[in-house]
Amino acid sequence: MSRAATRPGKPLRGETTVPGDKSVTQRAVLLGALAPGTTRIRGGNPGADARAALGLARALGARVRTSRAEWILEGGTLAESDTVLDAKNSGTALRLATGLLAAQPFLSVLTGDASLRRRPVDRVIAPLRLLGADVHARSRDRLPPVVVRGTALHGAHVDTKVASAQVKSALLFAAIQASGATIVEEPVATRDHTERMLPLFGARVVREGRAARVTGPAALHGAEIEVPGDLSAAAFLVAAAALVPRSEITIRGVGANPTRTAFLDLLARMGAVIERQEPRAAGEEPVADLHVKAGGLRPVTVGEDEAPRLIDELPMVAVLAAFAKGRSEIRGARELRVKESDRIATVAVALRAAGGVVDELEDGWIIEGKGSLRGGRVDAAGDHRVAMAFLVAGLAAKEGVTVEGADAAAISDPDFLDRLRSLRR
Ligand code: S3P
Repeated sequence: MSRAATRPGKPLRGETTVPGDKSVTQRAVLLGALAPGTTRIRGGNPGADARAALGLARALGARVRTSRAEWILEGGTLAESDTVLDAKNSGTALRLATGLLAAQPFLSVLTGDASLRRRPVDRVIAPLRLLGADVHARSRDRLPPVVVRGTALHGAHVDTKVASAQVKSALLFAAIQASGATIVEEPVATRDHTERMLPLFGARVVREGRAARVTGPAALHGAEIEVPGDLSAAAFLVAAAALVPRSEITIRGVGANPTRTAFLDLLARMGAVIERQEPRAAGEEPVADLHVKAGGLRPVTVGEDEAPRLIDELPMVAVLAAFAKGRSEIRGARELRVKESDRIATVAVALRAAGGVVDELEDGWIIEGKGSLRGGRVDAAGDHRVAMAFLVAGLAAKEGVTVEGADAAAISDPDFLDRLRSLRR
């Protein structure tokens, strides 16, 4: 475990980019392994989670070649692995692979690191069973390892209980291999990268409100995937520029999928000046350059409707709220309890260690912002997004912030600190 420290100093200025979107990358890798033929992925995320997805693809018999510029998969020849499949720290890789493997005619056992083995899988197992899947897990089907006995699946109408793009995607990955029509309906709209990507691999998706319908088995083929910059990685740089006075930065080529951009709207409400410039497309995903200027931060309220659309950004929102002057309330975020760490608890503990005043709620936080933060030493609890949120805090906290376990950032953005430093030169 390594530590890193950030201190107040120069404003952030200039231009930068971010790594490819982690969610898009992992979907492309797993679909590329499933679909017969060649899949080319340009701009894939270089972090450990995406590499875990590549590892699964390889272990299942896909041929994978990677260079800096492009990853090439030869798919369509999945076969039983002679070893346990390791999704490492990645909930997305584990849950999406569970759906994908539910229809493959062999046995798979999936597991991950200690953090992943504490994260729920019943949310995918129960709905997959409606399609006829034979999937089991430890602790009464609640926790990994997961055992998948692949079998022939049939279509079904599934109302997902949890607002989770991972659950929706696991179901769609199974449904494109099932016979007949499957409708997946979610309680709140979540990121729709899977719905956008499936047609590129040959699976038609019909969308109506919060429902997506696919008819299987789809005649899949390889695809060319251009991965947009990761909005969730950009969010930390956007936050840093919003927080540090006199900052003004541009982040090029960031995914601007409307199911992901709630953080930008929220930050604008808090007082930052954010422009989306040069809107364009990367494959089926909208992309823009983000231009951000610092602004005095106001407190904020986040509710049930909004929380799922900025779920990965909420640790950063909590930190920003501590710098705003006044009371912020963030609710409807119970899902944070089952992320890479219990993010409601780890953020509350870290904020207090840095001198913040925070009440931990079952589904969020109440934060009494003082207009500034003292800073100090905090523990990332092995969680990449907590690590990055507090490295950003250190840029404005009076005493700076030292983050124990800062290397967790490599899960999604291995070059995060370099990116931050280059903007302060
Ligand atoms: C992801 C969905 C979200 C998010 C995770 C990536 C995805 O999880 O937190 O980082 O790629 O589908 P849930 O779908 O469980 O909310």
